[in-house]
Amino acid sequence: MTQHRNKRNTQVTVVGLGLMGRALAGAFVRGGLDVTVWNRTASRADDLVAGGARRAGSVREAVEAAGPDGLVVVCLTDYDAVREVLDPLGGLLDGRVLVNLTSGTSTVARETAARVAEAGGVCLDGAVMATPDGIGTADATVLLSGDFGAWTRHEKTLRLLGGRTDHIGDDHGLAALYEMGVLGLMWGILNGFLHGAALLGAAGVRAEAFAPVAKQGVATVAGWLDDYARRADAGDHGSPEATVETHLATMNHLVHESEALGVDTELPRLVRELAERAVAAGHGGDEYSVMIDVFRKRVGTPS
Ligand SMILES: NC(=O)c1ccc[n+]([C@@H]2O[C@H](COP(=O)([O-])OP(=O)(O)OC[C@H]3O[C@@H](n4cnc5c(N)ncnc54)[C@H](OP(=O)(O)O)[C@@H]3O)[C@@H](O)[C@H]2O)c1
Repeated sequence: MTQHRNKRNTQVTVVGLGLMGRALAGAFVRGGLDVTVWNRTASRADDLVAGGARRAGSVREAVEAAGPDGLVVVCLTDYDAVREVLDPLGGLLDGRVLVNLTSGTSTVARETAARVAEAGGVCLDGAVMATPDGIGTADATVLLSGDFGAWTRHEKTLRLLGGRTDHIGDDHGLAALYEMGVLGLMWGILNGFLHGAALLGAAGVRAEAFAPVAKQGVATVAGWLDDYARRADAGDHGSPEATVETHLATMNHLVHESEALGVDTELPRLVRELAERAVAAGHGGDEYSVMIDVFRKRVGTPS
């Protein structure tokens, strides 16, 4: 134990000290909390212990250290690992608040929360939408869903993880669902950028030259999202700025350009195929926001 420790401080236990878990624990230590850590590979706690955290010898000891009013934060590879680590604890979770920041599906998040509840604990499930080096900064987003009372009790502590930490609803699966939505968005943007960079690279243009133009493109498209969201919610895809057919014609250019330059065509072909489904279902003259109905499988689903 180091001189930083003070029994009156809020007690937090962090279970799992991978890249993300170490960042989470570090933010709590910097916040002056009384932090206990446990990791399967004990040496991964060394830097945190040097910084003032306490190393527990077992998960059981780590969870006990959080005390009845403390917080247990879990961040492991996946929910199978969460189950492996938490299930043997049984009644030890009784009365404790568990914040699970492990990524997974909404279904598994709800199942985990139900198991914690059966053991007498209270669960918040979270999605970390930041890289480890962003944890604790004003821009880091950590979304939490589940028990609102647990959130209000531990809000101040949890806000140490990022300036955009928030509770988004009582459904334990919500944070995981938001995470899935943002991950899909991320891969759409990253794959689009890298595909574009491959096209330009065929003409000798460096990706670094493309990046500022790409960023401007991303910002322009981001500006459309509020209108698309309104249209998706209202089912209103009329009075288009650009129809699906207009988009489709341009998608053809992207496929042909990729073919001509020897760049992989799978991504633009998939994008084109989705739009073709909307057109085949009679939505070619609608705003491109109608694609929401393809994803909802309301139109154009192949039989
Ligand atoms: N890294 C990011 O940028 C980022 C961003 C957002 C969300 N996340 C999410 O955060 C979670 C952790 O990611 P990470 O980057 O920290 O992964 P990581 O560096 O690979 O760490 C994985 C952690 O899980 C532990 N673990 C795995 N299986 C275990 C088991 N069966 N029993 C006990 N411990 C086990 C590992 O212990 P050992 O050290 O003993 O192997 C380690 O502490 C993931 O769900 C990830 O999707 C990560």
